[in-house]
Amino acid sequence: MMRTVYINGDYLPENEAKVSIFDRGFLMADGVYEVTSVIDSKLVDFDRHVTRLQRSLKELEMKLPLSVRELLEVHQELVRANRLEEGLVYLQITRGAPPERDFSFPNPDETPQTIVLFTQSKPGLTDSPLAKQGIKVISIDDIRWGRRDIKTVQLLYPSMGKMMALKSGADDAWMLQDGYVTEGTSNNAFIVKNKKIITRPLSNKILHGITRASVMRFAKESQMELVERCFSIEEAKAADEAFITSASNFVMPVVEIDGVTLGDGTPGLVATRLREIYISECRKQAK
Ligand code: PDD
Repeated sequence: MMRTVYINGDYLPENEAKVSIFDRGFLMADGVYEVTSVIDSKLVDFDRHVTRLQRSLKELEMKLPLSVRELLEVHQELVRANRLEEGLVYLQITRGAPPERDFSFPNPDETPQTIVLFTQSKPGLTDSPLAKQGIKVISIDDIRWGRRDIKTVQLLYPSMGKMMALKSGADDAWMLQDGYVTEGTSNNAFIVKNKKIITRPLSNKILHGITRASVMRFAKESQMELVERCFSIEEAKAADEAFITSASNFVMPVVEIDGVTLGDGTPGLVATRLREIYISECRKQAK
């Protein structure tokens, strides 16, 4: 099906939406993005995604080119126009296309930002066969830049990490700095030991996941014990269970790390319960 996408104020068929070769997103990865999940044709955690988007833009001296209300309308219109039931809305904002390639930022009064949004249908997002099976991860060095808290479109290394995982027969990679797990290639990492849920605290070293925050809130409300501290890859391999969180996977159990099976090799009770709670709460709160 030909999708309708949004580009700089227009709704167009996907094959008619074009961005300049001078766009700084293309030339310099000078842009930020958000991925908002859609359940029952409704947006999950929209307000929190916009708050993070505003922060990413501010850190890079950019502005939000639309009002929050307009942005919500664009998201909802794309969901409607594409009859999206389960999936994602992808949004990207770049510093635009100045007439020349130049390392200095263009004057924002002369160079309008580029904003694009499109949908991706993902049937089975909530009723995921993979979640019943769990995923395998490998560990790799985290060689990304120092501002991973900004959701920029510089995704080459995470993409390479994903390929390293696939080539070794795993599903994803957890990245390590000084022996400690930072996060997954496109998700936040958690382990569970003696019913305690452990995840790395927020800093510039990881993306401040919206799903991470929601899952932590739901875990606390369900009286689960939660600790924010760094954990090593050895500790992860000795954990009772592990899982990742992201808008594209919700809560996804991890059953193997670097070839070491966790527990009995099936999704853990805590991860499974948190996935159920997360999806049912999102169904109630999505808009
Ligand atoms: N990725 N860490 C990284 C490096 C990420 O790229 C993501 C999200 C997360 C989880 O954040 P959230 O819960 O807000 O989705 C953590 C998105 C889904 C992506 O790049 O497709």
